[in-house]
Amino acid sequence: MAKMTILAIESSCDETAAAVISDGKIKSSIIASQASMHAQYGGVVPEVAARSHVEAIIPTIELALKEAQTKLTDLDYIAVTQGPGLMTSLMVGVDTAKALGTALDIPVIPINHLEGHIYANFVGKFKISNLKFKILPAIILIVSGGHTLLVEIKNHGVYRILGETVDDAAGEAFDKTAKMLKLGYPGGPMISKLAKQGNPQAFAFPRPMINSGNFEFSFSGLKTAVLYKTQELKTISSKQKSDLAASLQQAIVDVLIAKLEKTIQRYKPKTILLGGGVAANSLLRERFKQLATTYHLASNIPAFEYCTDNAAMIGLAAYYRLKNNKAHFGKNFSADPNLKLK
Ligand code: KG4
Ligand code: ZN
Repeated sequence: MAKMTILAIESSCDETAAAVISDGKIKSSIIASQASMHAQYGGVVPEVAARSHVEAIIPTIELALKEAQTKLTDLDYIAVTQGPGLMTSLMVGVDTAKALGTALDIPVIPINHLEGHIYANFVGKFKISNLKFKILPAIILIVSGGHTLLVEIKNHGVYRILGETVDDAAGEAFDKTAKMLKLGYPGGPMISKLAKQGNPQAFAFPRPMINSGNFEFSFSGLKTAVLYKTQELKTISSKQKSDLAASLQQAIVDVLIAKLEKTIQRYKPKTILLGGGVAANSLLRERFKQLATTYHLASNIPAFEYCTDNAAMIGLAAYYRLKNNKAHFGKNFSADPNLKLK
């Protein structure tokens, strides 16, 4: 196959990101985070996010090209996150990609954000392409600020959703708890840090749907349980804060791992993968590795910088789609073909 250079753009939430992928290798990956801007509100404000994408998108793309020593005219494709995400944020990336695609006369490839989180596992050492028939089918647990789902990867681009959250995402439970404890945004990293000093057994938070017999999740009740507990405690000491963080983290990770284990027993994958921002959580990473060992499965977790939103994962998803040339998508997991300009 001829050399293939892709410029990837991601702007679905609060990171403006661009990356250059050449023949499946990451040449650059630039992320302009707006987290500090949203921190004062305790969460992402869509209008603020969209405005700051508008400001950051061109400088971010320029930096990605510069770092990759790539000229616009070297590009063969542009990959862009088409959704899911905040509509006005997505539009900045999609419109930029379309404009560049038209100006350069190259195709624009729409990528599902969740597919990006899957392909964050395909960075560097983990060359699924070479091992295709040995390590697939795989099951991935995708846990982010907006999503919690278990997906079976049958082949490149061929997915089946096994279960997802019926309400809040796991990341949201981390973020909302952090907001209640006035820890700032994003909450996951703060909770995870505090939890290290806390007692995970201090508060008996529920493990929602842990025995539901299906592969669905629910985290909104957990959020309410934390709210009631903070109200009951009135003043919260720093020891109690750490204990709340540790107990919440334990409850979330227990549910995630229990459901993943059930899918392993039921679907017998060859490999398990992890993806999404919450995959940066050290307790989850540890328990995930233990599970892989217990079931003698191959496993992979993306490096920290590829767990949270980035454009490299979007470029890799596009690369593998082009390379395999036959990707199709499940009912709920589609990229809109109308976005393709050519
Ligand atoms: O994938 P991502 O960057 O954005 C979405 O697609 O939503 O995920 C962001 C989420 C946030 O909820 C954040 O609190 C969570 O990932 N997160 C963590 C950690 N680092 C980020 N949650 C738990 N522990 C962490 N260390
Ligand atoms: Zn994400």
